[in-house]
Amino acid sequence: MADSRMESDGYDFIFKIVLLGDSGVGKSQLVNRFTKNEFNPEGKSTIGVEFATRTVQIEDKKLVKAQIWDTAGQERYRSLASSYYRGAVGALLCYDITERSSFNNIPIWLKEVEDNAEKDCLVMLVGNKMDLEEQRAIQVRDGRSFARKNGLAFIETSALDATGVDTAFLRILQEIYKQQVKQRGMEEEEGEGGTAPTKGETIQLHAPEQELDDDEDGRMQQQRARKRGCC
Ligand code: GTP
Ligand code: MG
Repeated sequence: MADSRMESDGYDFIFKIVLLGDSGVGKSQLVNRFTKNEFNPEGKSTIGVEFATRTVQIEDKKLVKAQIWDTAGQERYRSLASSYYRGAVGALLCYDITERSSFNNIPIWLKEVEDNAEKDCLVMLVGNKMDLEEQRAIQVRDGRSFARKNGLAFIETSALDATGVDTAFLRILQEIYKQQVKQRGMEEEEGEGGTAPTKGETIQLHAPEQELDDDEDGRMQQQRARKRGCC
């Protein structure tokens, strides 16, 4: 996978990804690390919604632009929900491995995604701040087990030292791409006029106005999507 933090205008596909999770788990710093390779320890709590993009090359040389939506984890901003989720094809549900309450609230965030996102939105559980091993409150096996039970991918990250951050985003982008290609291929076979994505095409799910665990095998799990009637 090539690093293309040097933003180029050209891309083959654009995918919207949303970040969710309690205030302070490190959502904005994960975005900062992925899009700018920066970490700002003085960063302020997000107000409203922030956007960032990064274009990456995936395995088969396609340029994929990630359009990342980062919102405030604070309760009072949750009314933004439905527009925030519209058109999202991936969601990162983030908790802080040193903060049990942030993990305990993951089912609430998952329900938000289930209630608001498109049915085939891929979801990855992200345990952030893994650099703070001595303060760990949530064991890796607990994160993985929750992810498995709910059909989510799983990864631990550190926005501070960059561990796992690129992997998390690149893996979800790659899986979204595969899912889109598969879905369109199936539609074509069924004679619904669907086509495989072509160069320069923007893939969005019903939102044209928004142009703006891994498991142990390292594969995204898609049971959740299947449970929800897709694929
Ligand atoms: P809201 O915008 O309020 O929802 O919070 P957020 O989830 O965006 O958290 P943010 O990225 O602002 O980070 C919160 C605090 O955690 C900041 O002090 C960060 O410096 C710190 N932080 C974020 N990621 C990491 C990490 O991986 N390791 C460590 N040690 N600290 C981190
Ligand atoms: Mg934030």
